[in-house]
Amino acid sequence: MILPYPVLFEPEPNCQLCPRLSDFRNKWRSEEPGWFNAPVPSFGNLDAQLLIVGLAPGRRGANRTGRPFTGDFAGDLLYATLQKFDFSRGEYLKSCQDKLTLVNCRITNAVRCVPPQNKPTGPEIANCRDFLFREITAMPNLRCILALGSLSHNAILTALGQKRSNYKFSHAEFYNLTDDLVLADSYHCSRYNTNTRRLSTEMFELVFEKIRNLIKTKPV
Ligand code: URA
Repeated sequence: MILPYPVLFEPEPNCQLCPRLSDFRNKWRSEEPGWFNAPVPSFGNLDAQLLIVGLAPGRRGANRTGRPFTGDFAGDLLYATLQKFDFSRGEYLKSCQDKLTLVNCRITNAVRCVPPQNKPTGPEIANCRDFLFREITAMPNLRCILALGSLSHNAILTALGQKRSNYKFSHAEFYNLTDDLVLADSYHCSRYNTNTRRLSTEMFELVFEKIRNLIKTKPV
């Protein structure tokens, strides 16, 4: 499955694959010209062993700052947890201008553009699938993909040509997709999920404890 390295490409800033998302982007470009307002590129190195897959950029978060999970509520829990488990170095300051680096970890989104109401449609997820596939196949050391939420879980399985019915989404479940690649599931670290107590800090950290056991190599 690993393709010659590197074969990555990101959507172009004016990507037109999804008319609704392109219209939404244009609306925010005129209302908030200082924001990033473009497909948000992945964060972290391609030689990482862990790939975290979120849903889509938050309107006032990644869509504003240009870095996945940066500047919104979901990022507060994610980046604190990455730091706790040594997957990041430097202080997270909710902005791309901080000096934060990821260690053996990369973060991307199933859908690269901000969707209205935070809800991408099926065709939009399908349009972005090729970017996800290339992301995964461009990571030569990939050992674990963490899906944040069932939508990301399904997007990963479909991108990899796996049958969804063989891998039911379940929090803290780990599936061996191949001898070398594990799919880990977590509820999304969204404000909604933490406010409704579907996801607690302890539940999220449990997933990272399991990932740490899988990826034992000390961060460099
Ligand atoms: N920010 C992201 O980049 N992705 C999410 O899934 C949520 C917030």
